[in-house]
Amino acid sequence: MDKRIKLEIKLPLVKDIELVALEGLELMGRHLQISEDKIGEARILVTEGVINAIEHSENKTPFVDVHFIMNVDALVIIITDYGKGFDPATIENPEIGKKMNSDYKRGWGLKLMKEMSDEFEIDSSEDGTKITITKNLR
Ligand SMILES: Nc1ncnc2c1ncn2[C@@H]1O[C@H](COP(=O)(O)OP(=O)(O)OP(=O)(O)O)[C@@H](O)[C@H]1O
Ligand SMILES: [Mg+2]
Repeated sequence: MDKRIKLEIKLPLVKDIELVALEGLELMGRHLQISEDKIGEARILVTEGVINAIEHSENKTPFVDVHFIMNVDALVIIITDYGKGFDPATIENPEIGKKMNSDYKRGWGLKLMKEMSDEFEIDSSEDGTKITITKNLR
């Protein structure tokens, strides 16, 4: 039987609250005996996604939602905020050469998430943003 476990968390907009999501992720991974490497990569995905949702969204609700669905093969991470939304097409793709000569060093999170995940989807409107990340665990 496919052993699938789920965790749904409402995170208040509090400094360092992504650590709560990371703790849940860690425990689920241990339960399913997922390798530390894979969980380490998943931690980065969650951290970048949750920080974006808290930092950029101008959330209209006092929380963001984080859902994890995990089995031994794959992890799905869904991070939803209820903020202003954005158009991913307008976000400039960062390039290391340009960043070296620029005072603005940020803007790596989305690129990193795309590269570290196996599927990455952004669904954004003026009612908020939902990112769905799939990460293979084998
Ligand atoms: N959930 C979100 N709601 C609204 N805007 C977002 C959201 N996530 C990302 N953005 C927009 O996309 C831009 C790029 O995000 P990205 O994570 O790549 O870089 P960053 O957060 O600005 O910097 P870094 O992640 O390197 O610290 C953000 O600056 C913001 O304008
Ligand atoms: Mg970011």
